[in-house]
Amino acid sequence: AAPRLYISRLLPDPVMAAARQQYQLLNEPRDAAPAHDTLAAGLCEADAAICTLTDRIDASMLAAATRLTILANYAVGYNNIDLAAASARGIVVTNTPDVLTDSTADLTWALLLAVARRVAEGDAYVRSGDWSGWAPTQMLGTDVSGKTLGIIGMGRIGQAVAQRATGFNMRVCYTSRTPRSPDWLPSQWEVRSLPDLLKEADFVSLHVPLTPDTHHLIGARQLALMKPTAFLINTSRGPVVEESALVDALLQRRLAGAGLDVFEQEPLFHPSLRELRQVVLLPHLGSATLATRVRMGMICLENIAAICAGRAAPNQVNQIEARQGLSGSTL
Ligand code: GLV
Ligand code: GLV
Repeated sequence: AAPRLYISRLLPDPVMAAARQQYQLLNEPRDAAPAHDTLAAGLCEADAAICTLTDRIDASMLAAATRLTILANYAVGYNNIDLAAASARGIVVTNTPDVLTDSTADLTWALLLAVARRVAEGDAYVRSGDWSGWAPTQMLGTDVSGKTLGIIGMGRIGQAVAQRATGFNMRVCYTSRTPRSPDWLPSQWEVRSLPDLLKEADFVSLHVPLTPDTHHLIGARQLALMKPTAFLINTSRGPVVEESALVDALLQRRLAGAGLDVFEQEPLFHPSLRELRQVVLLPHLGSATLATRVRMGMICLENIAAICAGRAAPNQVNQIEARQGLSGSTL
C-alpha cells in the first residue's frame, strides 16, 4: 500500500496533485493552521508528514507519532520543530533550502528599497487623494546606491542578498560564525564583528536561522550601535530581533527605519509599529512566489520519496543516532 501522508495545511495545486498521486493522503488539508490536537492526531496516523512553519511540533506530538518516519518541513527554517525529540525517535526532519533563496533575497531588497525610498508611504499617499503634484521637498528618502550593506548571517540567502548589492555599487560587510572570512566568499565582501558591522552599515539585513544563540541577537545594546540614519531589514525570523527594543529605537529616532517581514509572535506584532511611518511591514512573504512555493512542495515530496524508498533524504537537517541493536551493540 502507498505510504500514509499527512499534510498540515493546503499547499499549491501542483503539490497537492503530486502528493495525491504518490501517497494515501490522510486528510483534506485546509487553508488554515490546524489546531494542536488536529495536528497531533494527523501525525499519529502518518508514515510521512509535511508541516509548515506555523505548526509547532513538540515532543509530546512526536512521542505519539509512532509510525512517523519523516517530517518534511515546508520552509528552510525549522525552529518550529523540536529537533532533539525527532532525532531521539529516529524521525528524519527535512527542510527546503536553495529553492527559496532567490525569492527571499528579492523580497529583502524589496523591503530595503521600500524603506529607503518610502514606497509604501508614497503608495498610501497617492491612494488617499491628498497628493497635489510633484514638489521639490516632497517625501524625501535616503539613497541606497553607494551605501554600506551589513549582512548578518552569510549563508545561502545572505550571499544572494549580497550579490544583488553589486548593481547598487554598495560596499558589503558581513558577520560570520568563524572569525576569518571563508575563502569561498568573494574577497570584496568584508568580514566584521557584529558590533563593528552595526556601527558601519547603512542597511543591516538579518539572515540567520532562529536558534537559542540568535534569539534576540538584535536587542537594545545592538540597536544602540547602529547609526541613527541606518535601517534594519528582517526577513529571517521575528525573535532574532527584540521587537520592543526596536520600537523604542524607532520612536526615539535612534534608527531611521525598519523593513520587517517577520515578527516575534506572528501574526501579532508590537502595536506601535502600525503608527510608525518609517517602517514597512509585510506578512512573512519571503518565499511567497507561486513558482517557489511549488518547488518547496516538490522538495518535501522528494525527501519523503527518498525515505519511503529506504534512501537518504537529500535535505535532512537532524542527525539520528544509530539505534541500539538487540544485542546491545549500536548498528
Ligand atoms: C520561511 O520563513 C522559511 O523558513 O522557509
Ligand atoms: C523628476 O521627475 C525629474 O525629471 O527630475
